[in-house]
Amino acid sequence: MPTGRNCRSPGHIRKTAPSWRKPSWPDPTPLADPEGFWAEAASAVTWTKPWDRVLDDTNAPLYRWFTGGELNTSYNCLDRHVEAGNGERTALIYDSPVTNTKTIWSYQALRDRVARIAGMLRGLGVGKGDRVLIYMPMIPETMMAMLAVARLGAIHSVVFGGFAANELKVRIDDAQPKVILAGSCGIEVQRIVPYKPLLDHAIELATHKPDSVVLWQRPQAQGSLVEGRDYDWAALEAAASAVDCVPVAATDPLYILYTSGTTGIPKGVVRDTGGHLVALTWSMRAIYDIGPGDVMFTASDLGWVVGHSYICYAPLAVGGTTILYEGKPVGTPDAGAFWRVIAEYGVKVMFTAPTAFRAIKKEDPEAALVKQYDLSRFKALFLAGERCDPDTLRWAERILGVPVVDHWWQTETGWPICANPLGIEQLPVKAGSPTVAMAGWNVQVLDAELKPAAAGEIGSLVVKLPLPPGALPTLWQNEDGFRRSYLNDFPGYYKTADAGIVDEDGYVFVMSRTDDIINVAGHRLSTGGMEEVLASHPDVAECAVIGVADALKGQVPLGFVVLKAGVTRSEDDIVKEIVQLVRDRIGPVAAFKTATVVKRLPKTRSGKILRGTMQKIADGEQWKMPATIDDPVILDEITGNLKEIGYAKP
Ligand code: COA
Ligand code: AMP
Repeated sequence: MPTGRNCRSPGHIRKTAPSWRKPSWPDPTPLADPEGFWAEAASAVTWTKPWDRVLDDTNAPLYRWFTGGELNTSYNCLDRHVEAGNGERTALIYDSPVTNTKTIWSYQALRDRVARIAGMLRGLGVGKGDRVLIYMPMIPETMMAMLAVARLGAIHSVVFGGFAANELKVRIDDAQPKVILAGSCGIEVQRIVPYKPLLDHAIELATHKPDSVVLWQRPQAQGSLVEGRDYDWAALEAAASAVDCVPVAATDPLYILYTSGTTGIPKGVVRDTGGHLVALTWSMRAIYDIGPGDVMFTASDLGWVVGHSYICYAPLAVGGTTILYEGKPVGTPDAGAFWRVIAEYGVKVMFTAPTAFRAIKKEDPEAALVKQYDLSRFKALFLAGERCDPDTLRWAERILGVPVVDHWWQTETGWPICANPLGIEQLPVKAGSPTVAMAGWNVQVLDAELKPAAAGEIGSLVVKLPLPPGALPTLWQNEDGFRRSYLNDFPGYYKTADAGIVDEDGYVFVMSRTDDIINVAGHRLSTGGMEEVLASHPDVAECAVIGVADALKGQVPLGFVVLKAGVTRSEDDIVKEIVQLVRDRIGPVAAFKTATVVKRLPKTRSGKILRGTMQKIADGEQWKMPATIDDPVILDEITGNLKEIGYAKP
């Protein structure tokens, strides 16, 4: 049990890492005293009511952290720093090369704005437990919206701007938001993406209708307001008064974040309030080595988990400065954009996906632009979201001269499963490995018989339950789905759906997914979801989508379609139509640009499509004729098709 003083002292932030110091690294032993460890970590967070139990296992294998405790995330991220006298410290820097805007928000200014936006939402009837959907670009108001929803004890669900109306509709129906907060447009370098028509269409398609829509109008493309439902954000906010933080139970949801599952229906990952804040706070010190006043630059999007955790909540929770960057690694204006931001704001730690570095390397292979900037305050680069190829890792190390940390995590986990904990001890790097399991993550490799694989042998990467604080406690209103997706296949363990190895030193190597998820430019996408779209085309009898290797994006989707008997239309036209269909239904982010018409799909005798073999052929890898194949000749046909479109090169 924590003492009242520890639990309540506002602004209590320790600069030093807590006492979790493994005697030697890597040490595969799980935490000896997880409850003691996490209770100590939790003392860096301000609670309005102490918890009764650190780990509540009464409903195992569903575990809860800090039951009985109460707190507010927005308070911890903003108010307590202001109350501790640090209101003038910089909380948020908005840097937008696509609009030529730079703004700086102190903790005081950000808190005041967030409190008023919360007042605006309360005026629309939003209270504890209500859902608010946020469909907005990379602007300060998006982050303020998240913090304002949290301030009221309501639950936000941010939807990434690159998704199409249909994806938005699915999320609206599942989360059932009372209010939707939207931006009028996103800016994709030269292309303006009007969000409001997409949102209107999504609401039209959805069964659930929000009570209100509040629109932040951007000058680049204003949206029209629907009478009686839509409000102009600026006007509504100007008329609202600031409201205080509402304490919630540690186990209450802070947000729902949808991520690709194995079908077209995304999974609503739930993040709890207490465990999340404790885990993020610990990770900032132990992994990223960021504390009060340090500047963190996470080049991702607030619509992804990386943006939730390390653009929004974690840097603010520890009193740091976060950078919200509305731009790309290249083209805004050049491949020196990241170095400019690092130099201009004295960034200590940067976090992005390897694909961003591949994009920079392609434009500026000798990194000539790095030399134009003073990066003396820059201490480390963290990469995640996809496998980091050793070439990119080595290149980044060489051009930046700082540690480059590949770390592994998922939307579900909310913070890294494996990393190199720079705030505690910098471990030797093994290229291709996100290093070792972090506190509370008991990572193991199991074979098909659920037996532990030997060191260095590939198998399913699983985590022994309970998961540490911060990881998902369930799926939104879908406990069965949670058990089915993550708990049932390996009783007693969480299934990561990644395959990999743990070597004799305890280093983890994440090799591939075990399901049909692919990783495109660090974005997680379901090939099953794309197949559903292809199958809906009137001329398509059968289809398959696989992820093929791509030098820039890591992977890109590639479609195969078998046409219905009697279809005589041009194959090129049909391919163009299905490419457009995926863009319209899933969104541009799917990057689905290539498909080929084939006579048949290769299958096993039991009718399973041999996607793995097709992928190996497409990537020009060694492959074996599957013993169970129905008709081996089909693979020759497929190889021919792939060669025609530039794949299957040895
Ligand atoms: N709103 C609307 N459209 C969006 C969007 C958004 N928020 N984000 C991306 N898109 C669009 C892009 O404009 C592009 O459209 P196009 O097909 O018309 O060109 C499409 O979706 C694919 O986007 P993306 O995969 O990002 O490709 P890109 O060519 O625009 O940029 C990179 C390539 C590598 C520069 C870019 O992917 C990147 O910076 N990645 C960083 C990775 C990252 O943020 N990962 C998150 C986890 S850390
Ligand atoms: P997302 O939920 O979008 O963050 O995607 C999570 C998936 O991305 C993981 O299950 C992995 O397949 C992949 N991934 C993330 N980080 C890494 C990494 N460092 N190395 C290998 N794969 C990674």
